[in-house]
Amino acid sequence: METNKSMLFLLFLAVSAVFADEDVFIGVNIGTELSDMPHPTQVVALLKAQQIRHVRLFNADRGMLLALANTGIKVAVSVPNEQILGVGQSNTTAANWVAQNVVAHYPATNITTICVGSEVLSSLPNAAPILVNALKFVHSALLASNLDRQIKVSTPLASTIILDSFPPSQAFFNHTLKPVLVPLLKFLQSTNSYFMLNVYPYYDYILSNGVIPLDYALFNPLAANKEAVDSNTLLHYTNVFDAMIDAAYFAMEDVNITNIPVVVTESGWPSMGDSNEPDATVENANTYNSNLIKHVLNKTGTPKHPGIAVSTYLYELYNEDNKAGPLSEKNWGLFNNNGTPVYILRLTDSGSLFANNTSNQTYCAAKEGADSKMLQAALDWACGAGKVDCAPMLQGEPCYEPDNVAAHATYAFNAYYHMMGRAPGTCDFNGVATITTTNPSHGSCVFSSIGRNGTFLNGTAPAIDSTSSSSAYPVQYLNNNAFSITLMMILGILGLTVVLL
Ligand SMILES: *[C@@H]1O[C@H](CO)[C@@H](O)[C@H](O)[C@H]1NC(C)=O
Ligand SMILES: *[C@@H]1O[C@H](CO)[C@@H](O)[C@H](O)[C@H]1NC(C)=O
Ligand SMILES: *[C@@H]1O[C@H](CO)[C@@H](O)[C@H](O)[C@H]1NC(C)=O
Ligand SMILES: *[C@@H]1O[C@H](CO)[C@@H](O)[C@H](O)[C@H]1NC(C)=O
Ligand SMILES: *[C@@H]1O[C@H](CO)[C@@H](O)[C@H](O)[C@H]1NC(C)=O
Ligand SMILES: *[C@@H]1O[C@H](CO)[C@@H](O)[C@H](O)[C@H]1NC(C)=O
Ligand SMILES: *[C@@H]1O[C@H](CO)[C@@H](O)[C@H](O)[C@H]1NC(C)=O
Ligand SMILES: *[C@@H]1O[C@H](CO)[C@@H](O)[C@H](O)[C@H]1NC(C)=O
Ligand SMILES: *[C@@H]1O[C@H](CO)[C@@H](O)[C@H](O)[C@H]1NC(C)=O
Ligand SMILES: *[C@@H]1O[C@H](CO)[C@@H](O)[C@H](O)[C@H]1NC(C)=O
Repeated sequence: METNKSMLFLLFLAVSAVFADEDVFIGVNIGTELSDMPHPTQVVALLKAQQIRHVRLFNADRGMLLALANTGIKVAVSVPNEQILGVGQSNTTAANWVAQNVVAHYPATNITTICVGSEVLSSLPNAAPILVNALKFVHSALLASNLDRQIKVSTPLASTIILDSFPPSQAFFNHTLKPVLVPLLKFLQSTNSYFMLNVYPYYDYILSNGVIPLDYALFNPLAANKEAVDSNTLLHYTNVFDAMIDAAYFAMEDVNITNIPVVVTESGWPSMGDSNEPDATVENANTYNSNLIKHVLNKTGTPKHPGIAVSTYLYELYNEDNKAGPLSEKNWGLFNNNGTPVYILRLTDSGSLFANNTSNQTYCAAKEGADSKMLQAALDWACGAGKVDCAPMLQGEPCYEPDNVAAHATYAFNAYYHMMGRAPGTCDFNGVATITTTNPSHGSCVFSSIGRNGTFLNGTAPAIDSTSSSSAYPVQYLNNNAFSITLMMILGILGLTVVLL
């Protein structure tokens, strides 16, 4: 699947200080190969409702960048692989790219990162010789616009470039690629940028032919005797994700580079697959992503670098039904194109992010014993400036009874709270409202039980380009050959290197 990603619109974000724990984040990639891709305004409504603060686009679509303006959402844009040869061969082309796709949108759209290509070394090897120049030219253009401090430049790499990744202490970069990787790492080091890695324990697991236990891939607890131990460092590994990130640190150390933080630009798990993909299930996808989010936000770090958080962009926002390849390829998304979640993440106590199994059942209600004048004032506000549809409380409508201010305020508060995507602070109303898990619906008066999800939002749309990325790029990156080559590469590597002690 890695090769297909060059087609995506990715959302990715925020790189300000990965080594600083407080800045760890979970972002989301936005691919656009959907038969019915939501309008950028709807995409942004979904991001807001789900409190997603960091996104990565697989290109620099003007419509998306306009819709993301003034939202506070941090954006990683990408130079698509189709454009990388041009950008890497001419600093003028690079400067034009930056002017048109970055400078024109900044700072209204908070572009924090430019991803130059996607898995170039593994999916577009003929571009390898110009990769570092492409990064340098893009960086020079930022420097010329005085944006080099605000915007980082890097390139997402496939984990297949790291060989012998278990035990992590033995990991090294594919020697053939070192003439590119060493200057690349030096560039990242000198510009305080990030090592961007795509980490897919799903593939590591399925291609290991049973060597890797499913629980080890899913971050589930392992029996002590099943834990993977690196016999050189005696570090214990409880999940594939950490092992892969430490393999990246060790591979960098192998070329004497020790101080570049890792950002995971893609990680996820498919929720559906063909009959020969039995592990692509909703349950496994929910387990992986829920555990991954908790793991990243807990700032646990990895065994080699405890406490050094690894910010991660989930792959991905939407299921992409137009993707080629096996059924799993179309099912990496957290949401359907209408904004409904494919599954509700199990995220209790991990901060406010995503539709979660707590939010699935929270409501906003008038506090018991609250002052009725204050309730009335808040009710008036909600039905007025708050833009809640209060028609169901009119006489003869389902929510008219019980006809008292507390019941009506509860209806309006709850509607507002869900309309605002249950954002923090939207169930307060000067202290007369409270969040509850009790569903206040009664009779035919049905209360919103889940947030506004962007499906039918009709916000003020900026002038928008086409959001379809599919027509803009050559088709060669969509074909199945590329897919199977990537799988074979992964398979070959795993066959040699995965050893659980
Ligand atoms: C591009 O490179 C040429 C020659 O190396 C240099 O003279 C020119 O200033 C560069 N232009 C930009 C926009 O960096
Ligand atoms: C963009 O995000 C960065 C990182 O959080 C922040 O420091 C900066 O103030 C933001 N810039 C704008 C223009 O909002
Ligand atoms: C190392 O990279 C080269 C060049 O991309 C590739 O041909 C080779 O198969 C890779 N080796 C391994 C073991 O993946
Ligand atoms: C890394 O440093 C060691 C010790 O300084 C040196 O022997 C080795 O050649 C260096 N390796 C590389 C790839 O620079
Ligand atoms: C969170 O981090 C603490 C220590 O940093 C660790 O003890 C705990 O197991 C971690 N929890 C999860 C769910 O990773
Ligand atoms: C999303 O919104 C649509 C239309 O308002 C609604 O039918 C659907 O149930 C909502 N789904 C979620 C998960 O909020
Ligand atoms: C919500 O998720 C937590 C943590 O994963 C789990 O313990 C709890 O049972 C879940 N609650 C529901 C109602 O599913
Ligand atoms: C879940 O949703 C609730 C209600 O919106 C919110 O308070 C909480 O922060 C969210 N996240 C988690 C991880 O519980
Ligand atoms: C929300 O929870 C209810 C039960 O509490 C369940 O029936 C419903 O399927 C859940 N919604 C989703 C989208 O998982
Ligand atoms: C969106 O707005 C347009 C124009 O205001 C209106 O015609 C259309 O019915 C609205 N669509 C929805 C789903 O509300």
